[in-house]
Amino acid sequence: MLPASALPDTIAVHAGRDDLAALGVHVPPIDLSTTNPLPNVGLGGDSYETLATGGTPISGGSHVYQRLWNPTTARFEEALARMENTQAAVAFASGMAAITACLLAAAAEGKRHVVAVRPLYGGSDHLLASGLLGTEVTWAAADGIAAARRPDTGLVILETPANPTLELLDLARVAEQCGGVPLLVDNTFATPILQKPADFGATLVVHSATKYLGGHGDVLAGVVATTDAWAERLRPIRAITGSVLHPLSSYLLHRGLQTLPLRVRHQSQNAEKLVDRLLANPAVERVHYPGLPECDPQHLIGRQMSGPGAVFAMAVRGGYEAAARVADSVRLITHAVSLGGVDTLIQHPASLTHRPVAADAKPHAAVLRVSVGLEDPEDLYADLERALRS
Ligand SMILES: Cc1ncc(COP(=O)(O)O)c(C=O)c1O
Repeated sequence: MLPASALPDTIAVHAGRDDLAALGVHVPPIDLSTTNPLPNVGLGGDSYETLATGGTPISGGSHVYQRLWNPTTARFEEALARMENTQAAVAFASGMAAITACLLAAAAEGKRHVVAVRPLYGGSDHLLASGLLGTEVTWAAADGIAAARRPDTGLVILETPANPTLELLDLARVAEQCGGVPLLVDNTFATPILQKPADFGATLVVHSATKYLGGHGDVLAGVVATTDAWAERLRPIRAITGSVLHPLSSYLLHRGLQTLPLRVRHQSQNAEKLVDRLLANPAVERVHYPGLPECDPQHLIGRQMSGPGAVFAMAVRGGYEAAARVADSVRLITHAVSLGGVDTLIQHPASLTHRPVAADAKPHAAVLRVSVGLEDPEDLYADLERALRS
């Protein structure tokens, strides 16, 4: 049984596992049932009604259908909520599905306007700018959120550190400006190991769980850590739209959480070493990394984040051509989108992850984003140094 006073590393290993001893197992079972026996028509109907309207399983009832409830997914959600210091969490088929559900939940109450702070992941930027879900976005600077709010504003959306250039935002100051509008913070880059946005006023903490939570590049998933009330609004949207996470993915994510503290800390140390070396490389014009004093003017590391993380961006001398040559020339590092896995990835945001972003908000063509893995930083630097010389 996980004590209420447990510390973060203990929570990562044990959370969401309290029912295992009673089941007589040491690791969580993977429940693949798409349908579940109903005790009788009355309890079956009551179970359906409760789960379809966002509730949790009723005593003596049934999980009814995998789109409504899955025990393997519920264990992962319980663990992630505990790590993020929120009442609940709701898992989705991808990070984009998680953000979509939050937007739909706000829109369902007639709140179709969103205030968002750039930069955001290109897919999130595209979703908001396109108005695909019937939402309307106002892009604001961090200190312009209060002025951008309207009576129909349903969400304030931001990332810190932001994808791809790692800008940091002071969450407590942002939350003050929200005036009761729920604040959605995409915590994909920091993870709950480095930052717990709910402690600073966020109502919805979103992850592309595809990244650090899974950590091995083999799970596509999203999750929203939030209040019980918001979880009750998000679950019916997940059920209706069918954006559920497969239980095998839930199992892998739950397992991934156990090593998340170790991975994040070690990958961050590797990133710090790599950034140090790159700052002295004449082919590198600028490095964007929360651990550099010039990238953290509000002193948020130590106050809001416990460490700078393991993603950095660098502008190389020579513009687009030079950046493309570096991405094409790495051998140990993989040239690929995504981040947060145990191996190091490099990619060119303006051409890839941020391709759909409006020209005036697109990352600079000389910028490459690097997600640092668990390899020896000496090997990583040797690979980058050779690629930079190319
Ligand atoms: C910060 C951030 N949020 C959301 C997403 C979308 O997540 P997914 O690819 O799991 O749908 C990404 C994907 O790269 C991301 O980097």
